[in-house]
Amino acid sequence: MSNEIQQLKRLSAPLLAWYDENRRVLPWREEVSAYRTWVSEIMLQQTRVSAVLPYFARFMAAFPTVEALAEADTERLMKLWEGLGYYSRARNLQKAAQIVAQRYSGRFPETYEEIIALPGIGDYTAGAILSIAFGKRVPAVDGNVLRVAARITGSRLDVLDAKNKKLFRSWMGSAMSAERPGEYNQALMDLGATVCLPSGKPLCRICPAWDFCAAHREGCQEELPVRAKKKEKRREHLTVFVLLREDEVALRKRPNTGLLAGLWEYPHVPGTLNEEDAAARLSDWGMTPLQWEKRLESHHEFTHIRWEMTGYVLRVRGEGPDGWLWTDEKARRRLAIPSAFARFTQEIENTYEERE
Ligand code: ADE
Repeated sequence: MSNEIQQLKRLSAPLLAWYDENRRVLPWREEVSAYRTWVSEIMLQQTRVSAVLPYFARFMAAFPTVEALAEADTERLMKLWEGLGYYSRARNLQKAAQIVAQRYSGRFPETYEEIIALPGIGDYTAGAILSIAFGKRVPAVDGNVLRVAARITGSRLDVLDAKNKKLFRSWMGSAMSAERPGEYNQALMDLGATVCLPSGKPLCRICPAWDFCAAHREGCQEELPVRAKKKEKRREHLTVFVLLREDEVALRKRPNTGLLAGLWEYPHVPGTLNEEDAAARLSDWGMTPLQWEKRLESHHEFTHIRWEMTGYVLRVRGEGPDGWLWTDEKARRRLAIPSAFARFTQEIENTYEERE
């Protein structure tokens, strides 16, 4: 048995004892089902627990069963997801729900092969569902768990490398509790989130692994896990138009594939345009500017891209190109506009409040 597995095996008993005393009370733990585990894990992949709580409650109230999610109106689903980001995850959630409803008559499959074949479910989520909802001995290794494992074993392997991630996963699979796999995985998540903290401030004094953790012994907690430097994000410059016409604002729908597929957005063009060039673009669209209200700057980080946005808020006359939708406040609030554009949405809301 490798040293790493031996080291991780020492963790199981003290970790579970620690969990029994310190576990966080969370809605998907109070009432456990494959559906609730799955939805919560997808939400937790992108946001902290505290931010997920209200989304989870609203989601479960709107779609209490996998069938309800399968049949959900997509626009309503996107609206409920608004602010969580990564809308493709919501879309995949629905696609997978449709498969579960149809192919499996609404009963979540219980094998790794069947679960991993569902859209949007990877290694981590499959492991979480199998262990938490079905009590199977399958590891669920995310960034938090990699940090804990790298510190306890003192491993200096680059955790961003897929090969190494696989190796960590196999170590965890061999070392994890056979009796309480779901609680073991959740205990690791809690330890990573509340004790074995990133960025140089782990609370080793209260950690159940303090007396055998390699990183603690060697005093190198802050150096682990090793993450080789990431490539810089590609920058894209955009000019965004917030076009107001009486109490309406112009929106258009994004293409059905690619980044933020099928969501609504304010019209925009590539590049950073000055006012004169922006006016020329409006005229190409058949619009007449009546009053320039504001110029705003904003930015948004996606996984591989950073948008640098310049926005113009102005009152206009005209229809704009085919496919644009002029929405009043009530209609706009029902549509999913990605948080990449939040700064501009906020500006409209401010304008609206001032007029009220
Ligand atoms: N982070 C990811 N999954 C989690 C879970 N099930 N409980 C708490 N935190 C988590």
